[in-house]
Amino acid sequence: MTTTASRSDDGGAQASDTSVTLVAEMTDADATAVVGLWHACGLTRPWNDPATDLANAVATATSTVLVARLADGGETGDDGTRGQVAGTVMAGYDGHRGWLYYLAVDPAVQGRGIGRSLVVAAEAWLAGQGAGKVQLMVRTSNTSVLGFYDSLGYSDQECVVLGRRLE
Ligand SMILES: CC(C)(COP(=O)(O)OP(=O)(O)OC[C@H]1O[C@@H](n2cnc3c(N)ncnc32)[C@H](O)[C@@H]1OP(=O)(O)O)[C@@H](O)C(=O)NCCC(=O)NCCS
Repeated sequence: MTTTASRSDDGGAQASDTSVTLVAEMTDADATAVVGLWHACGLTRPWNDPATDLANAVATATSTVLVARLADGGETGDDGTRGQVAGTVMAGYDGHRGWLYYLAVDPAVQGRGIGRSLVVAAEAWLAGQGAGKVQLMVRTSNTSVLGFYDSLGYSDQECVVLGRRLE
């Protein structure tokens, strides 16, 4: 998996006086923290195994999982990464559009620009894949997040999302 690290100075620099948010593709060592963050942010559902979702995305060439770390947020690990995982986003290009999933920021550091940095980095990754448009789904039970997406330029696409399990 190619690393596309980006320094998100705008969001991260606003984030706190002492830290800059670094966004990069996750490493294998991040998997437990990533799934834990999805649980902590209420993004998991009993009928989806988040560890499988994560493994599938990492194993797919046209999808990725990016993580945000606070630059001063911990020791450098054996794998060279630094800082605890403070946020995540999954991005995938389906050959027509780019999609975002599992956007999550640690509740302890929400409101510091990390979510914005993750979305901006995911958009750049998708553009690099050839996607001309990015979309995402918001659960109807999660409308409080709509203001966040509005501030990033996302608007209601006036579509109803239908789905059916294949397995
Ligand atoms: C949504 C989420 C990722 C936002 O992350 P965050 O790091 O707190 O957001 P940011 O600090 O980057 O906010 C970016 C902008 O959105 C605004 N914003 C954030 N949350 C908002 C909300 N609920 N309503 C309105 N505006 C909001 C911020 O004020 C900021 O505006 P600014 O750039 O003009 O200052 C985070 O709240 C979260 O993890 N929520 C739980 C999981 C979730 O619902 N994920 C989305 C699934 S679709």
